[in-house]
Amino acid sequence: MKSLQCVELGPPDKLQIKEVSDPQIIPDHVIIENKAASVNFPDVLMIQGLYQFQPELPFSPGGECSGIIVSVGENVENLKVGDRVFAMTGLGAFCEKILAPKHSVVKIPDSMNFETAAALPMTYGTSLYALKQRANLKEGETLLVLGAAGGVGLATVELGKAMGAKVIAAASTQEKVDLCLKHGADEGFIYPTGDLNRDQQKELSSKIKELTDGLGANVVYDPVGDKYSEPCIRATAWDGRYLVIGFAAGEIPKIPINLALLKGMKIVGVFWGAWVGMFPEENKKNFLELFDLHSQEKIKPEVSDSFPLEEGAKAIAHLKDRKAKGKVIIKI
Ligand SMILES: NC(=O)c1ccc[n+]([C@@H]2O[C@H](COP(=O)([O-])OP(=O)(O)OC[C@H]3O[C@@H](n4cnc5c(N)ncnc54)[C@H](OP(=O)(O)O)[C@@H]3O)[C@@H](O)[C@H]2O)c1
Repeated sequence: MKSLQCVELGPPDKLQIKEVSDPQIIPDHVIIENKAASVNFPDVLMIQGLYQFQPELPFSPGGECSGIIVSVGENVENLKVGDRVFAMTGLGAFCEKILAPKHSVVKIPDSMNFETAAALPMTYGTSLYALKQRANLKEGETLLVLGAAGGVGLATVELGKAMGAKVIAAASTQEKVDLCLKHGADEGFIYPTGDLNRDQQKELSSKIKELTDGLGANVVYDPVGDKYSEPCIRATAWDGRYLVIGFAAGEIPKIPINLALLKGMKIVGVFWGAWVGMFPEENKKNFLELFDLHSQEKIKPEVSDSFPLEEGAKAIAHLKDRKAKGKVIIKI
């Protein structure tokens, strides 16, 4: 079968399509014939050797996929050949067939197509966990989303609206802001790009305060990090929750901790993957809630670009180059 392989660490153009052996079934696993897989930021980091968990070379990137079960190992109940599923494998999804541990596989509703199913688990899973279990977002609160047109960002915009918040979307271009407004954001604005200087940081804080009647945002969802984080914390409301999601802009920021004291606010870490490992049943309940929201059309995962497996490297480059809006899919 064909597999997109990372044989040496580096930029996406170093990836190669290789012919490898089909996976063999083992206990507690199923084999899925992939129909779609989606690209996430960890793929961009992992192929360059920059991710917190680093597989040995060669490896196939790709943390999640969807398809049809073609083989079932011993000790697997509740899953059978022919089931339509998605799988969160963390690795190895950019290929034609994948051996997936049973606990990573979830049956999808008949009404959900394979592209949507591949686009949903990590982004919407992370964002629902962040807003519900970590921030305890309440109806009527103000939610500021950075990188709002990206994978986790756009999922947060939709979920924030579904939970009754006033959503403010922040992104780097008007096209991205417009996409967020289309997906339900109440307000949107363009933030500066590059290495933000002091004045640009102050302007960012002022803009957030202006859009929140001077009170600041109740909840801040930050997958961008770097120089964007501190001005957003400075524009967080009393009793606010600032969610540490990721650092797509590069640096892990160092925050003056007195800001948390002065604002009576919480800086809240979000590590969805670790939580799923510790509380799989809670996560399954969240997925059922997401399926329900999808059937009510309250969430509509946006697939901006799709590439064939042979052009999988281009799909990863698209995310790396900040061109993605919503999700980028590899069709298999
Ligand atoms: N904590 C968790 O459990 C968890 C789970 C999933 C993902 N994450 C993290 O969340 C972050 C976003 O992941 P994603 O899959 O949503 O990625 P994505 O689709 O690429 O979105 C990231 C957004 O960050 C913004 N950005 C700012 N500076 C950037 C830069 N230098 N390069 C690229 N993007 C930049 C971009 O929006 P603008 O152009 O509008 O600025 C982009 O849309 C990553 O750091 C990822 O590791 C964390």
